[in-house]
Amino acid sequence: MPVRSGGGPLRIAVAGGGYVGLVTAAGLASLGHRVNVVEVRRAWVNALQAGQLPISEPGLDELWSKVIGDELHVTAEGDKIYGASDLILVCVGTPSREDGTQDLSYIRAAVQEIGEVMSGSVVNPVVAIKSSVLPGTADEVVRPLLEKASGRRAGADFGLANVPEFLAEGTAVGDFLNPQRIVVGALDKPSAERVLAAHEGIGGRRIVTDLRTAEMIKYTSNAFLASRVSLSNEIGNMCKALSIDAYKVLEAVGMDDRIGPKFLRAGVGFGGSCFSKDVRALATQAGDLGLEARLLRAILEVNEGQPGRLVDLLERKLGSLRGRRIALLGLAFKPGTSDVRESRGLAVARLLLQVGARVVAYDPEAAPNARAEVPDLEYEGSAREALEGADGAVITTEWPEFSGLKEEFKSMKRPLVLDGRRALNPEGLGIEYEGLCW
Ligand code: UDX
Repeated sequence: MPVRSGGGPLRIAVAGGGYVGLVTAAGLASLGHRVNVVEVRRAWVNALQAGQLPISEPGLDELWSKVIGDELHVTAEGDKIYGASDLILVCVGTPSREDGTQDLSYIRAAVQEIGEVMSGSVVNPVVAIKSSVLPGTADEVVRPLLEKASGRRAGADFGLANVPEFLAEGTAVGDFLNPQRIVVGALDKPSAERVLAAHEGIGGRRIVTDLRTAEMIKYTSNAFLASRVSLSNEIGNMCKALSIDAYKVLEAVGMDDRIGPKFLRAGVGFGGSCFSKDVRALATQAGDLGLEARLLRAILEVNEGQPGRLVDLLERKLGSLRGRRIALLGLAFKPGTSDVRESRGLAVARLLLQVGARVVAYDPEAAPNARAEVPDLEYEGSAREALEGADGAVITTEWPEFSGLKEEFKSMKRPLVLDGRRALNPEGLGIEYEGLCW
């Protein structure tokens, strides 16, 4: 397969203008490539063309405005783009179904369209999957679909790759431009070379593998990080029962450079769009292979138990929560985002509602998204208003502004604060304070 050489700009199509697609597209355009985002939602296309981003991510607006209209364009018409692209990056969602299996319908739809366009084109592109897909997907789903829809052969008429993303929300632009490593799973050498050429100018180690190894690297990374959080939480639960501060324990443990200090923050558990979904999908795949995946399932079990532990602790302090006014501080799945997917704050809120509490919530950014998911909460515009008259408060996201709260606690009916995130230093606050794991 001829590869455009010379290190010049590539024509890149990014299928899917969601979170990963937008960061990737802006990043690649900033390297000088000619990038087209293909997005099926018309309203998003219009907003994006006008420079309005439907997601908030630090640094993305700035990067976007530098390249939009020049190196970067957005369109709903993939048929006009895919046939004239050297590299097509598929960045559509891969949500979980109820049973934990991966829903590949967006991948199938995008790949089908790409294949159909390829059938009438003379360009030999590399199709690279950036969405999280389970090991085997490129070989068993993407390749046959592309070959059937295009009537062309992988390895001869087009290339195939998997380029997992490791972007974390809040640091995604930096993660893209300064990655620790770029993993490229490729069908063949020319496919790998084209993907590597697209990333020229970006640092980080390069790891080139076959397709399914790259797919597995992505899932293993997330399973590993999630396992550290769940192990920290299990240790944290024991620490609490033994009157030990889990943070002191884990700080010392993390000083061992075989372990390292990151992802050891014990508390109410992990949320977000990746960890639960990816660990569940991996465990389900293990089951399909006749393997038990006990550890993967335990990661999820521990995580799902943490919100209930926070509510139990509150019940131990206050007795029945029926009719009690509880301030809930934090709805985003982590600070610095408005994203509430798998948010532990919402998990705690749902449990509190189940036992009849009156939940008064505050989050600096995530309230509109939270309201769409759980309309039965009372939403306030500030921590002060949420705390006023409350019988108790729980902290479920460590927003920096919460660490500065002081006078606000005085307006509570009982200044009881249960911290699920180690967000507060209670000294001198005059509150009754309990940490979930310390
Ligand atoms: C994660 C991965 O970090 C990223 O590489 C991948 O591409 C997508 O999933 P993200 O979901 O944006 O990124 O957030 P991350 O910062 O990893 O945090 C995930 C969750 O774990 C958050 O709810 C956070 O509060 C929680 N967490 C993290 C802990 O509870 N304790 C920790 O020590 C670290």
